[in-house]
Amino acid sequence: MKPFSVIIVAAGRGERLGGEKPKQFLELSGKTLLQRNIDFFRRFNSLIELCVVINPEHRHYVSVQDEVILCDGGKTRQQSVHNGLKSLQLTEDSDIVFIHDAARPFVRETDVGSLLNAMDEHLAATLAVPVRDTLRYKNGLSVERENLWSVQTPQAFRYDVIVNAHRNNDEKHIYSDDTGLLIAQEVHVEYVHSGLHNFKITYPEDLVMARQLTEQYETRTGMGFDVHAFDKDTQTEFIRLCGVDIPYHQKLRGHSDADVVLHTLTDAILGAIGQGDIGQHFPPSDNAFKDMDSAIFLQDAMDRLNDANGKLINVDLTIICEAPKIGPHRDTMIDRLSKLLGISKIRINIKATTTEQLGFTGRKEGIAAQAVVTVKLPAPDDEMDA
Ligand code: CTP
Ligand code: MG
Repeated sequence: MKPFSVIIVAAGRGERLGGEKPKQFLELSGKTLLQRNIDFFRRFNSLIELCVVINPEHRHYVSVQDEVILCDGGKTRQQSVHNGLKSLQLTEDSDIVFIHDAARPFVRETDVGSLLNAMDEHLAATLAVPVRDTLRYKNGLSVERENLWSVQTPQAFRYDVIVNAHRNNDEKHIYSDDTGLLIAQEVHVEYVHSGLHNFKITYPEDLVMARQLTEQYETRTGMGFDVHAFDKDTQTEFIRLCGVDIPYHQKLRGHSDADVVLHTLTDAILGAIGQGDIGQHFPPSDNAFKDMDSAIFLQDAMDRLNDANGKLINVDLTIICEAPKIGPHRDTMIDRLSKLLGISKIRINIKATTTEQLGFTGRKEGIAAQAVVTVKLPAPDDEMDA
């Protein structure tokens, strides 16, 4: 393959997008737009000379990479490109330079291949797409759409052609891209058909679209199981199950409020997000959790799910006991869970069963509960860990 050099211009302020951090340093699925582009060209050909142009005020956003030439940007994109061209250290056999916007994170290998092919016959080439919409001035005059193209990057040039064009330009003429500069000097630019995938992040809605394209979600399942024994010696009027106080004469033994259902559910959520179990986060040996409302444990698991940018899809619970009877309290429990979890009631199911008087639950020695939950989580990029 023909060797080529690459300049990635990343010295803009992203004013149309707004926000404190310039867009090229914002992340899509954990990687900045700039880094995506650096990695793209490195993957394409690990040996190419890569120059990244940034505003010196933005240095702290860039982690220094040995294999990249960093150079200072200018006030306009055109000046930034010019600085980049001056800092390339071309080798003899590489006389093609690609110029690319850091703000275009979706360029494909086929696009680069097509540009390189075009460079066999031309001095300059750009990716572009035909304009699709009807174009009209606000005052009513339509613009003939045929032959109108939206011009993208990367753009490819013979090195001496683009350097001379910048040298010959009197900096008073500012072009928004390099092919504009060449065409003004009557150099032919070849249009290479790309696609809408190669859009530039300019306005907030572009970033929303880019995030939708890159953020893949997956469904995960977690299960929980817990048992609490009745304390035969302690009489009481209510026990707490699923966050609801229901009439019963025997307390459940436990360090916290012994809400076996919420414990089970907490474990299921922790299971789905791969964060261990309730005992790891709230050790029973720690007196701080004595008589604690178990809703706090559940809230902690939900906070962890939220921190992982996850969402609870549904909850299915089974409460296993001879007594108390769960049926009369089922709706109240679902109401309570719906509030605690912040999901609608149709996503919550509570079942109750006995064990036909068999085993410890059959002998009314305690209550067991099981939970299965499903959650939606951003898919991790873990192919390399396998
Ligand atoms: N660019 C540059 N130096 C400048 C201006 C722009 O290197 N002085 C870069 C941008 O970082 C971007 C590309 O040129 O990767 C395309 O420019 P644009 O989309 O206009 O980005 P910004 O100028 O940052 O955005 P805005 O015009 O909304 O401020
Ligand atoms: Mg700009």
